[in-house]
Amino acid sequence: MEAKKKQGRYERVVIQLSDLLKPDHGMLARMATINAVLHHKFEYFFWTGFYLLQNDELIVGPYQGPVACQKLAKNKGVCWAAVNQGKSIVVPDVELFPGHIACDSRSKSEITIPLKNLKGEVIAVFDVDSSEPGSFDEIDRINLEKIIGMVISTPLNNR
Ligand code: SME
Repeated sequence: MEAKKKQGRYERVVIQLSDLLKPDHGMLARMATINAVLHHKFEYFFWTGFYLLQNDELIVGPYQGPVACQKLAKNKGVCWAAVNQGKSIVVPDVELFPGHIACDSRSKSEITIPLKNLKGEVIAVFDVDSSEPGSFDEIDRINLEKIIGMVISTPLNNR
């Protein structure tokens, strides 16, 4: 997608989510809402979802798209790399990422964003797969980091 169009779309998503997200309904409700909005706003989001860090395991949370792995093999693949490094990872070609976990062979490129609590601890990872190579860039990374941060800190003016 062309850069300007992509940026504009993310900006509209932020406005929409600021209105939709309720601080009182818990993180899972906010994750599910963010996930549904993003998945339906971007044509190239083939699989969109969260993996939750529970007892040192990554277990699938709210998601949209084809059925995915429920648990990810420890310290392997792109999601665990984002958790262990504490930073977002953009993968233009999943076949070139050592240990990539293919929940669906149609996934060709991927982005993962760690979700941190207020103490800075990683509590989940947000993952998007595209069925086209090279779908994700810095525009996706910067905007998705901002949007995923809304799981933790939601505007207070939207009750
Ligand atoms: N590809 C991910 C696994 C999750 S699926 O893409 C939904 C990984 O390598 O961690």
